[in-house]
Amino acid sequence: MRRAVCPGSFDPVHKGHIEIIARASNLFDEVIVAVSTNYNKKHLFSEEERVNILAECVGGLRGVTVEPMGQGLLAEFCRDHGAESIVKGLRSEADYQYEVPMATMNRHLTGVETVFLQGDQTYAHVSSSLIKEVHKLGGDISDFVPTAVLKRLESQNFGS
Ligand code: PNS
Repeated sequence: MRRAVCPGSFDPVHKGHIEIIARASNLFDEVIVAVSTNYNKKHLFSEEERVNILAECVGGLRGVTVEPMGQGLLAEFCRDHGAESIVKGLRSEADYQYEVPMATMNRHLTGVETVFLQGDQTYAHVSSSLIKEVHKLGGDISDFVPTAVLKRLESQNFGS
């Protein structure tokens, strides 16, 4: 049984995330999507909303479940859930530079390995923060987020 964790704050989840989770589900028997929350940071969506949105978007994929991770250590979450790997998507060299120290630290902490998947170039420029900014300023982000996110953003009337 090979189990992996796909972690992130997913505030909000976008199609680049979903693409990586779907590919992880082809590589592992089970994938836990771990929704992290930084309690010092103001998230657009609550942890519960982010978990619900993700469950709507990826809950139908084979072997994929969604769980809140709170503010604990990712390496400990993986150990406690019997996951030997973390799966992360890389969009760019900058992502790689940012991720490698965390991957090394996580391996040092509990031995958990990080597997990097090269993100599809269609979404190489897409990030949750850019989506929030563009949407807030009235831009169209419908190509980059699932319907579950779009409908919630619209109902928040975020642009006004
Ligand atoms: O979507 P994000 O915000 O880029 O996700 C970052 C995340 C949640 C993967 C990262 O912040 C994380 O691993 N947080 C858990 C806390 C932790 O383990 N910190 C030490 C990392 S070596």
